[in-house]
Amino acid sequence: MVFSRRLFLGSAAALATTPASARLAIDGGTPVRAKPLQARLYGPLYYNQMEWDFLREVWEARAPFRFWGMDRSVMPAKVATFEREFATFMQTRFALGVTSGTAALQVALAALEIGPGDEVIVPAWTWHSCFNAVVMAGALPICAEIDSSFNLDPADVERHITPRTRVLMAVHLQGNPANMEALLAIARKHKLRVLEDVSQSVGASYRGKPLGKMGDIAIASLQVNKTISAGEGGAVYTSDAGLFERAIRFHDVGTVRAPHTTWLGSTQGEAFIGVNYRMNEFSGAVLLAQIRKLPQVVGDIRAVARRVYEGIADLKQLELRGLPDPAGELGSAVFVGFPGRSQRDRFLSAMKAENVPASPPSGSVLLPTQPHIIAKRATHPNWPTWTSPAGRAVRYGVETCPRSAAILDRFAGVSLDPKFTEADTRDIVNAIRKVHPAIMAG
Ligand SMILES: Cc1ncc(COP(=O)(O)O)c(C=O)c1O
Repeated sequence: MVFSRRLFLGSAAALATTPASARLAIDGGTPVRAKPLQARLYGPLYYNQMEWDFLREVWEARAPFRFWGMDRSVMPAKVATFEREFATFMQTRFALGVTSGTAALQVALAALEIGPGDEVIVPAWTWHSCFNAVVMAGALPICAEIDSSFNLDPADVERHITPRTRVLMAVHLQGNPANMEALLAIARKHKLRVLEDVSQSVGASYRGKPLGKMGDIAIASLQVNKTISAGEGGAVYTSDAGLFERAIRFHDVGTVRAPHTTWLGSTQGEAFIGVNYRMNEFSGAVLLAQIRKLPQVVGDIRAVARRVYEGIADLKQLELRGLPDPAGELGSAVFVGFPGRSQRDRFLSAMKAENVPASPPSGSVLLPTQPHIIAKRATHPNWPTWTSPAGRAVRYGVETCPRSAAILDRFAGVSLDPKFTEADTRDIVNAIRKVHPAIMAG
């Protein structure tokens, strides 16, 4: 997917104030900024009286548990209201608050009835939890390559599909929607379910639809690095009542209680073995305030990203990360590509010297290179994931994901903060405009 830079062309020259010919700070020139620029945690940046008031209400009611409080006649409602408002934002019928994104992945896979003998395709580059949740279900994770969007490469997915493949895990990383059109077409063709992991892109959209709405079921992490946060937390969301009921049951030891019985209308399924991943009311209080601020956070971060994109759009030989839907991107980082690792690493050093640090793609791991994955180490030596014939046959290692490794080696990005000022974004633009041509010139 090639990014259309025309979208951002227009005011590039107006934004830049440092001549591109200026001596790089790494070579003894004056840095663009006096002090390093650093993106902060989005959720806590927006904490104000609202979070405080909702927390105090939970405290005063002495009702920290979501299903009942000190006064048994009053049904606590922070988590329940958060769930309703989260579902409304995501345009799905249902949402369930849970304790973390990792828990949410396990809940979603349990809802989809994934277990031993099943295979789930995951991107080679994503957070541990995506892989681990499949293993914890007893199923086999199969890693496919990413493309320059850092998300699943649809062109690599099909060769991994076997009669045992049940789910395609579409993970939307670092604010960037995956190529859902192509992934949904593959899923339809092979009758696979789609689990969207929106953890790193809450608030982003694809062709006008909130991420998580297009697959069968979706999850989000609400941990502190994410768009909105209570420190820890997660959500599972879907428009399928059957999946929602199974999700509720798994997250609450097999049961369905009010208010979910009311939300579902009637329960159709039977109890089965579950865990306890229930969200508590203090987390619900913070997240209720945070979901109400999500449109503001998204508007702010997109405005910041747009100023940066506009400011660098006319750079010669500029390669941006693949953006399957530039308008839907969250804008949490602006990534620039280089021909290879040596240029990328020189860019990193030079940007650091300008006090506008850039980093390689982050927040994920190249799963097949992890020693415990190469060793197929689960919680028990007879874990069903790797004792099945397919599990015994599967191999990991960097040689199984060479294209992903090469892509990750040649990109660098500046992380953005929704409250960066115009001066901050001007510094980012100035630094990239100063350093990028010097690196590309060799
Ligand atoms: C893509 C992705 N999925 C799942 C998770 C797990 O979320 P949590 O840390 O809330 O368990 C993360 C966390 O960083 C993530 O980045």
